[in-house]
Amino acid sequence: MEKLRVAVLISGRGSNLQALIDACAEEGFPARIVVVISNTENAMGLERAERAGIPTKVIQHQEFADRAEFDAALERTIQNYDANFICLAGFMRLLTSGFVDSWHDRLINIHPSLLPSFRGLDTHARALAAGVRFSGCSVHFVRSEVDAGPIIVQAAVPVHPDDTPDTLAARVLTAEHRCYPLALRWIADGRVTVEGDVVRVAGARVPKKNLVNPGEH
Ligand code: GAR
Repeated sequence: MEKLRVAVLISGRGSNLQALIDACAEEGFPARIVVVISNTENAMGLERAERAGIPTKVIQHQEFADRAEFDAALERTIQNYDANFICLAGFMRLLTSGFVDSWHDRLINIHPSLLPSFRGLDTHARALAAGVRFSGCSVHFVRSEVDAGPIIVQAAVPVHPDDTPDTLAARVLTAEHRCYPLALRWIADGRVTVEGDVVRVAGARVPKKNLVNPGEH
């Protein structure tokens, strides 16, 4: 089977990009990253891509009159590299619904919360303020509504009583690095189907244990 040709869009640190780069380097992984695009020129993720020998492109949103023009430039670059799938990995720009619709079910995102809770920014501070006992991350297909769309995989992590937004973010991030490559692998292997708002993953196993937090003594 031909490998999925993935464009990864970033805005910053790129640790999720790194998780995808590492996964793609594994033998037999069914996807390869053909280009990394950043909307900021000093994104650390660009160095990660360069180190891995992946082409990079900076498309600075400030240089465009509006979102539609910026998205058109994104589209041209994605086509130049003949990518047929897009992963958003800490990409902090809203995409137009025209762009999102044209990549329907070929565009995924990772978000640091258990969606549909805590869409948007400052997820960890808001999760702590809400007193939830679990947080986590979600990989989902992108729809035009922000941080919405059929969920492919989620990981739950416990919230600790002494957590700060940073400590919770670090725990969630570890889970993100596990989930994003999994989702990409399943999609590239053709195991994922979308039925309305619900994703089916062929052959997926459900964990046996329920988590309880605080734990019982
Ligand atoms: C990650 O935590 C990702 O889930 C989040 O930004 C971080 C990027 O880190 N994305 C969003 O909040 C998108 N709504 P990274 O650059 O190290 O991958």
